[in-house]
This record gives sequence, C-alpha cells and structure tokens, in this order.
Amino acid sequence: VPNPPRLPGVEFLVAGSSERSHDSPTEFRQITREEISAWCAALAVGFFDVPDAARNLFVEANFDNQRTIGAFENGKIVGTYASFTTPVSLPGGTFTPANAVAGVTVLPTHRGRAILRSAITADLANAKDRGDAVAMLNASKFGIYARFGFGVATETIDCSIDTRGIEFRASGATSQRKRPPVELVAASEAVALCQPVYQHVQRQVAGIIERPRPYWQRSFGLLTDLKKWEWNGHVAITRDEHGTVDGFVRYCAGKGDWDTGRPNETLVVNELVTGTPQAHRQILEYLCTMAWVAKVTMIDRAVDDDSHLFLADERRVTRSRRLDQLWARALHVPALLTTRRYETADRVTVEIIDEAGLANGRWTLDASPDGATCRKAKGRADVTMHVSELGSIAFGGQSFDAFVRTGRADEHVTGAANRVDRLFRTTRAPWNLTPF
Ligand SMILES: CC(C)(COP(=O)(O)OP(=O)(O)OC[C@H]1O[C@@H](n2cnc3c(N)ncnc32)[C@H](O)[C@@H]1OP(=O)(O)O)[C@@H](O)C(=O)NCCC(=O)NCCS
Repeated sequence: VPNPPRLPGVEFLVAGSSERSHDSPTEFRQITREEISAWCAALAVGFFDVPDAARNLFVEANFDNQRTIGAFENGKIVGTYASFTTPVSLPGGTFTPANAVAGVTVLPTHRGRAILRSAITADLANAKDRGDAVAMLNASKFGIYARFGFGVATETIDCSIDTRGIEFRASGATSQRKRPPVELVAASEAVALCQPVYQHVQRQVAGIIERPRPYWQRSFGLLTDLKKWEWNGHVAITRDEHGTVDGFVRYCAGKGDWDTGRPNETLVVNELVTGTPQAHRQILEYLCTMAWVAKVTMIDRAVDDDSHLFLADERRVTRSRRLDQLWARALHVPALLTTRRYETADRVTVEIIDEAGLANGRWTLDASPDGATCRKAKGRADVTMHVSELGSIAFGGQSFDAFVRTGRADEHVTGAANRVDRLFRTTRAPWNLTPF
C-alpha cells in the first residue's frame, strides 16, 4: 500500500500548547487510507454520531482531495481535522481559492488542551502559504471561531408555505409560456443535469463553493444506500423554452397525517436552485399545488429568498430559524478585496487587527464597479476592524455600520462606516449551497 500523498503545504507536526499538563506529545499528521475508519470513529464520538459505513465511504471518496488530519496520542486518534481547497464565489461573479475546514472534533477526554488551536493555527498558516485568500467553515457553536479570525459571512433562513388553496400572482414578466413541464429525474441522472444550474447560480450569488464530486453524490443519495445523513428523496428539474435545464429541486415527504381523514402532508425542500425567476416560479407551483400537500418547508434558504413575491397572498410564507451559515477568515487581504467586485465606487483606508498576524495591517482600498486596487496604506485609517469583521463584510451580506453601532468596529472619520457599508454590501445576499 503506497504512503498517502503528502499534500502540498501540509506540515502538521505541531505540538500542543506549552501549557498542556499531559506528558504524551500530540502528533498531527495526514492519516493513511487504512486509518480512515479509526478517524471516522473518533469523529463520531465528537459529533455524538454512531460510526457508520456511509461516513467512511464519504471520507474515502474525499480522501485524495482533502487534507485529512489526525491528532495522535500514543498511537490513538484523539482529534480530527480536515480541509480542502476550493474556489468560492465572490460578489460580482468572480472566484478566489478558499481553504474549507471540516470534520473538526476532539475526544471529550482530550478537550481544553489546545488540540483544535494547534490544528487550526497550522492549517491557516499553510493555507496562506498556498495562496488561499480566505478560509471558511460551518460552525457547530457560535462562540468557537471568532478567536481564530472567522466571522459570519452568510446566513440562512427556513421558509414554510401554507399551500392549501394557494394562488399565484399573474405571471407578468416571468411568463411560463412555451416552457416544458417539470420533469422528475432519477438521482443517478440528476447530478449531470443539475451541475450547470449550480454553476450558473455560483456566478450570481457570493459565498458558493465548488461542490466536490463526493458532495454531489452524497446530496443526491448516490454514495451508498445506508441511511442516516444520506438523502433519500425526489429530484425534479425545469427547462427553458430551448430545453436547457435552468432549475432543480430535491425534496422529500416530511411529517404528515391523515388524522382528520384528509391529506395533510408537508414537503421538505432540501435544495432549490434556480437560475431564472421562471424556473423558481415553476418549481414553486409544482410543489405547492401537489396533491396531498398542505405545507412546503424549504430549509436553509438564502436570507433574501423571494418565493413570497410569486404568491397572491405573501403572508402564506413564514420565515424562521435565521442562522449563521458560512464563516470566513481573510488570509490575503489584497487578493480577497481586489478579486471581488463592487456595486459603487469609493476609496477607504481600513486597519485590520489580526492577533495571528496573517492579515493584519492598514490597507487602502480603491474600488469601483470596474475593478479595485488594495495597497498598504501610508495615511491614517478611516475605520478599524478585527479580521473576523472583514470576513463578514467581504461577501457582501453583513453591515459594517452595524458593527460600529454595536462597538465591534471603530469609525475614525464621520460617515466612514456608512461608506464602507455602501461599498461592501451587495444587492443579493450571499449564500452557500454546499454545507461541508
Ligand atoms: C470544539 C472542539 C473541537 C474544541 O476542541 P479543543 O481541543 O478542546 O479546543 P482548544 O483547547 O484548542 O480550545 C481553543 C479555544 O477555543 C475555545 N473553545 C473550545 N471549545 C469551545 C466551545 N465549545 N465553545 C466556545 N469556545 C470553545 C477554548 O476556550 C480555547 O479558547 P482560548 O484559547 O481563547 O482560551 C471540541 O470541543 C469538540 O470536539 N466539540 C464537539 C464537536 C464540535 O463541536 N466540533 C466543532 C465543529 S465546527
């Protein structure tokens, strides 16, 4: 069996903090393929999960494309950590390389000994050396990652639609004429049909990573038929008048009952991705007028989901569970800020505080819809923010002005917070379609 590939930039032979009271040194290293099931078993302890073959298969499928790190003590895995490099979309339809962090756990018996800190410190430094402009993750708990420079970049909401007797608005500009009817497709055919729609939406919405192949397979229940976190539902697609696929939905039947002798089903929409308003409307009509269905619940939608605008009665949509989704951490400030696009023009000087020393400094950003430059600043700063606030505003979804109003960032020139806000905010809310 060959040794695992030594992925570029992976040097995880970093011991835990010097304050640790335990004697046995912690070794951080890329695991071998043979260690996948032990790594998954450790991960399952941290995530209150049961080890299962589906998880092993998923990690195995990702193995060549990600850094799969184990923290070893006395030959036993006591901590898990994974990361992979992926393009992520930025405002204006551009992309930058990002270090996506996943699978972070430490055994309950080994917590509070800087195992996470050691792993993430080394990984972020390696990511910066590789040239990744940003690091990203989904956080289990809100309070963990700001200390490592991450800030909330995207959020999600759930939307529920009461569909009984539903009426849609007259189509107007989003005429459905000449469009073929919605098609149900087998999951095995769906990935190839849906990928172009995903890629299309990636150019419209910031915060979307490139979905690795194993994630496509897992989303569509194709990796294995073992249950648990495997998806098992239906896929429907829409096509435009030329036959090009322009939308897809993955959904399953949720909780329903016939207690009153009448059907009362809830459809759970796991994923609805549409490149045009016509496709969005057509899929909503398909779901909301389906026999037996009384409620459609769409989970993890963008916070600016506009499904209600298609309906005659907008109050049919109830929004709930607004949550942080993608956390971002700037690594290369000029690369991040000059790759994204801006909807307006301005010049601001920002001071970034970064205790880890990866992104700190004073930068002058000269931005316009035609492009931007970002250079080390000579003069004083207009505003000061922590690197975690920069990760939040870089994707366009968070208000810098709100950070200043709540004391999380400082404005040194009257009106500067508002100007930063107008420069960084985007018309469409950022949203990541692939949890990792
Ligand atoms: C979260 C987890 C990985 C932390 O691992 P750890 O090795 O104990 O963390 P460390 O000792 O390196 O702590 C690093 C810092 O994070 C803080 N921290 C750790 N766990 C935290 C938590 N659950 N909530 C808030 N802060 C936390 C520590 O206080 C420490 O802060 P400081 O260095 O500023 O004093 C571990 O508790 C765990 O496995 N939890 C269950 C699984 C999970 O939630 N994983 C995260 C998935 S995103």
